[in-house]
Amino acid sequence: MDIKDIEKLYLHRQSCRSFDCEKPVSDELLKEVCRLALLAPSACNSQPWKLLAVTGERAKELAAGVQDLGMNKFASDAPAFIVVLEGAGNLSATVGSRFKNTDFLHNDIGIMTAHLVLAADAAGLSTCILGWRNEDKLRKILHLPEKTRIPHIIAIGYASEGYEIHDKKRKPMEETFALIK
Ligand SMILES: Cc1cc2nc3c(=O)[nH]c(=O)nc-3n(C[C@H](O)[C@H](O)[C@H](O)COP(=O)(O)O)c2cc1C
Repeated sequence: MDIKDIEKLYLHRQSCRSFDCEKPVSDELLKEVCRLALLAPSACNSQPWKLLAVTGERAKELAAGVQDLGMNKFASDAPAFIVVLEGAGNLSATVGSRFKNTDFLHNDIGIMTAHLVLAADAAGLSTCILGWRNEDKLRKILHLPEKTRIPHIIAIGYASEGYEIHDKKRKPMEETFALIK
């Protein structure tokens, strides 16, 4: 694989806010995208996560869990969601987090999610990570225990016809990168 292929993938992946609600995603493809995401690295290989792929009627219900205050209206058209559940870190990652004053667990979850959305894009799917969520509503819809944390969920499906990929808006690299020798 060439770095130009990676660049193409990174530029092509964008947060999709217009899904084709008539086009479902197969269970096999959802599972495959999750399988690839779960290859992500994590502190002490702790893998502090679980993924739930939600489709069909339950996905329609789930949209309400990300739409408080009129946000994320487009989620009603998403044919599926991947719900990211926070798991327990293993002992070394938990102790390491304490000693190093670093939240390894949420870093790990973010890294895994990045793998997921890129894998989805490579599979011809579009995604939007949704941090604006109502965990209580989501837990109720999914019948999850009260203490289950849901750091974010990901809307996933096929983009509507005519959906365009825009140029990335990013801070100038002089602000976000330095080369030090
Ligand atoms: C942790 C996280 C939470 C996000 N939550 C939302 C959300 O609730 N609704 C939404 O439309 N976009 C959400 N986004 C998408 C960002 O707005 C988007 O990634 C950013 O504007 C860059 O655009 P791009 O993903 O198209 O490159 C979220 C992204 C991340 C990483």
